[in-house]
Amino acid sequence: MSVKSIYPRTGLKGEITIPGDKSISHRSIMFGAIARGTTKITNFLKGADCLSTIACFRSMGIRITEDTGSIIVHGQGLRGLSAPRGTLDVGNSGTTTRLMSGILSGQSFSSVMSGDESLNSRPMGRIIKPLTAMGAQIASVHGNNCAPLKITPGKLHGIHYQSPVASAQVKSAVLLAGLYADGETSVTEPALSRNHTELMLRSFGADISSKLHEDGSATARIQPCRELYGQMIQVPGDISSAAYFIASGLLIPGSELLIRNVGTNPTRAGILKVCEAMGADITYLNSKNTDSRAGEPTADILVRYSRLHGTVIGGSLIPALIDEIPVIAVMAACANGTTVIKDAAELKVKETNRIDTVTENLRAMGADITPTDDGMIIEGGTDLRGARIKSRLDHRIAMAFAIAGLIAGGETVIEDSQCVDVSYPEFFATLNSI
Ligand code: S3P
Repeated sequence: MSVKSIYPRTGLKGEITIPGDKSISHRSIMFGAIARGTTKITNFLKGADCLSTIACFRSMGIRITEDTGSIIVHGQGLRGLSAPRGTLDVGNSGTTTRLMSGILSGQSFSSVMSGDESLNSRPMGRIIKPLTAMGAQIASVHGNNCAPLKITPGKLHGIHYQSPVASAQVKSAVLLAGLYADGETSVTEPALSRNHTELMLRSFGADISSKLHEDGSATARIQPCRELYGQMIQVPGDISSAAYFIASGLLIPGSELLIRNVGTNPTRAGILKVCEAMGADITYLNSKNTDSRAGEPTADILVRYSRLHGTVIGGSLIPALIDEIPVIAVMAACANGTTVIKDAAELKVKETNRIDTVTENLRAMGADITPTDDGMIIEGGTDLRGARIKSRLDHRIAMAFAIAGLIAGGETVIEDSQCVDVSYPEFFATLNSI
């Protein structure tokens, strides 16, 4: 087991650049592979999850090369994939599994996807159900609604799917299958989840539209497609990775950090709203709009140490910060007063059950936290003490508690610290550089 020791720090200063967004990096490979012509991707995230996506498409005959730091995907068109050599290994990546299942459902060959122990225990019924309704032949090999998943050729037709969860992975799986269907496909979700698929597919030439309804629900529609066309993609920095440095700048007295090139798509930037509600001192510099970034805005974020106070987080804000809840919980433990996180039952089906893993580790550090059925209640203001952190191979738990270790008294040890490679291989090196 790899472990990392973290010690308390003061006055973090400096400038950091955040690596590419994981969600956008996955999509750029997938859409590039099924587009005609080449797709050039700059600032691609070489995290383990995105490398799993590359390996899967290489195994389906797509040439993916590197040229002076950019990734080049030599797309073969909507029907240009070939039968994979053996089982597609999706590693730890839910995004690879769920989005690819939409694409694979439209192919004329059979495939099997399987991942690691965590991945193979995550719920896949949420994609099996709508894809089956579209005519896809997709089955859980062990009949437990989990991967391995086997997909055989099927004829797809458009459906309207009312999704019970606000999940970009579910929405994207259905929309991608919709490229291969014989009529319009639409998905309504209870709140708007990240919209990278809609923005990027449109830039590749798909006929796709989206609408936010008055009650906060949202519908995306896609028409069947003859061909997508390769694009230049500039991947913005991942706000989910920036979140750890935003938190460290806010929590550690005397800090001032400039975090460059952060994606600020409102469907992802919920953490910035929470920081504001907690009284954070954050300045946005150099805001860039969406040109040449497949509809994705970016900004540099200047963070200064702030005395934070508790807040209530719930409703339609949850999908915009779901991956940041572990580090938000750390911020809440250090803030004055109570923080309530609700409407976040999806935390239970991430790489770990994050209600449990956050509770277990915050308690080990002496924080006052009560898990609930759809979130947690944190009484802030207790001094954290260093502890042995069980990451349980969950990258976001490892990174959130590394930040907690910078504020806690004494030594904090992060177990299985190498799991940060899933989304942020340079995390510990960047932490040491400030
Ligand atoms: C992702 C969607 C989210 C998120 C995950 C990445 C994506 O999952 O938690 O890290 O790239 O579409 P859900 O769709 O399960 O909410």
